[in-house]
Amino acid sequence: MNLIRFDSHRAWVRGVASWWRDRLRLNPQLTMCLPTGLTPLPIYEEMVRSVRSGHASFSQASIWGLDEFGDIPRDDPGRLENTLRRHLVDAIDLAPDACHFLDPSRPDLDDQCRRFGPAGGFDLVLLGIGANGHLGMNEPGSAADSPTRRVELHDSTIAAAARYFDHDRLPRWGATVGLGPILSGNEVWLLATGASKADIVRRIVRDEINEELPASLLRRHANCSLLVDADAGARP
Ligand code: GLP
Repeated sequence: MNLIRFDSHRAWVRGVASWWRDRLRLNPQLTMCLPTGLTPLPIYEEMVRSVRSGHASFSQASIWGLDEFGDIPRDDPGRLENTLRRHLVDAIDLAPDACHFLDPSRPDLDDQCRRFGPAGGFDLVLLGIGANGHLGMNEPGSAADSPTRRVELHDSTIAAAARYFDHDRLPRWGATVGLGPILSGNEVWLLATGASKADIVRRIVRDEINEELPASLLRRHANCSLLVDADAGARP
C-alpha cells in the first residue's frame, strides 16, 4: 500500500481528481466502485467541474455504488444512491444504464448481490474509512473473501450514520460490496481526510494485518494507495 499525504485538503482534492482524470483518459471504459460518506464529496464536485469543462468524460465508463442502507425509503436524501446521484452521477455524462445500485428494499436482494459488479471485476475501487476500520459496510470480522451481501451494522456505524440523515430513523443493516470483490479490484484508493481520521489511518498503516481491521487487508493489495490530507496523515 502506498501512503500518499497531500499538504492540504485542497491539494488532496486536486491530486485525487487529477489521478482519476488520468485513469479515465487511459481507459475510457473504466469500471468503478464508488462510495458515499462525506469524504469523497469534494472530489466528486471537482470531477463534475472537470466534465463540464471538457477535461474528463464518463461517457463510456460504468459505476457501481459500494453500499446501501436497508429500510430507508427510496426518496430519502440520506440514502446512499441519492447522495451519489446528487453529487456526481446526475451531473456527469454517464450513460443512464451505466450506473448500478443495490436496492435492499427489493425481495431479491440475494440475487442482486450475486449479480452485482462488472464481469471482469472493478478496474478502480474508491473507498472511505469508517472509524472502526470498516470498508463500505464490511464491519470488523468480515472475511477477506466475503462476497457482496446483506450485513448488520455495528452500533458505532449506526450512530455515525446519523450525520447523513435529517431524522432519527437510522438504518441498522445494509447491503455492501464484499471484501472479496474490493480486494480483487485492479486498483484501490482508500480516502481519508480530517483530524478525526488520523487515529484510524495510523492503525491501518501500523497494526497487524487483520480481519478485525478490514482496511488493513488492503496492505496485501498490489496496487492500493492510501490518499490522505495533512490532518488525516498527521500521525503516520
Ligand atoms: C460509512 C460508509 C462507508 C464510508 C464511511 C466513512 O459507514 N458505509 O462507505 O466510507 O462510513 O464515511 P465518511 O466519509 O462520512 O467519514
